[in-house]
Amino acid sequence: MSALILALDTTSREEALRIASLTADHLDAIKIGYPLVLGAGLSIAGEIAALGVPVIADFKVADIPNTNTLICDQVFAAGCSAVICHAFPGGDSLEACVASAHAHGGECFVVCEMSHPGGAEWFSGGVAERFSGMAVTAGADGIIAPATRPARVAALREIIGTKKIYSPGVGAQGAAPEDVKALVDGVIVGRAIYGAADPSAAAREYRDRCR
Ligand code: XMP
Repeated sequence: MSALILALDTTSREEALRIASLTADHLDAIKIGYPLVLGAGLSIAGEIAALGVPVIADFKVADIPNTNTLICDQVFAAGCSAVICHAFPGGDSLEACVASAHAHGGECFVVCEMSHPGGAEWFSGGVAERFSGMAVTAGADGIIAPATRPARVAALREIIGTKKIYSPGVGAQGAAPEDVKALVDGVIVGRAIYGAADPSAAAREYRDRCR
């Protein structure tokens, strides 16, 4: 059983709020990122949160510690409950994100291995294991790991123990909730819900399949 997180990658405020309203009852969280925030502004985070759904900011934050702190502080001030960060800038940069998240009562998730085919090119060969170890050392709340490669999710679970795993790649990228729901805490679904003819029915179906 896992939570269901909608990746709301529409670019218009009106469309985002329409889909969020239609699907909110079936979701555990909504993930927003550059497509929506560049189109609608960061204030969309508060508007979605006002619907009663926690908002995860997928900005894949990757800068020096001071800049990471400034970015994450903005994210949480806007009403987000969690932020997604990269590990590759180093442990101090990651710790800055974790510190900001925890200072605001929020959570920090670390990208460890990406779900698309190219994710296996760069994050293979043990780097994802290193990133997972960095997430543990920095006190992060969890990691992002690919539903498209359940065996890799299982390997990273060995490193992070009971920390959370949120897993993208379900739906448009080919994975199914059943592939990973026993391994992860949350499944992330984007186009297969927000691009469906009936987003509410699609969200309900994915929620049921995650249970
Ligand atoms: P789709 O439409 O493919 O959307 O269901 C997936 C969403 O998840 C994001 N994504 C990732 N984010 N690590 C991340 O932090 C990943 O490995 C990863 N793979 C996909 C993607 O940007 C979209 O919002």
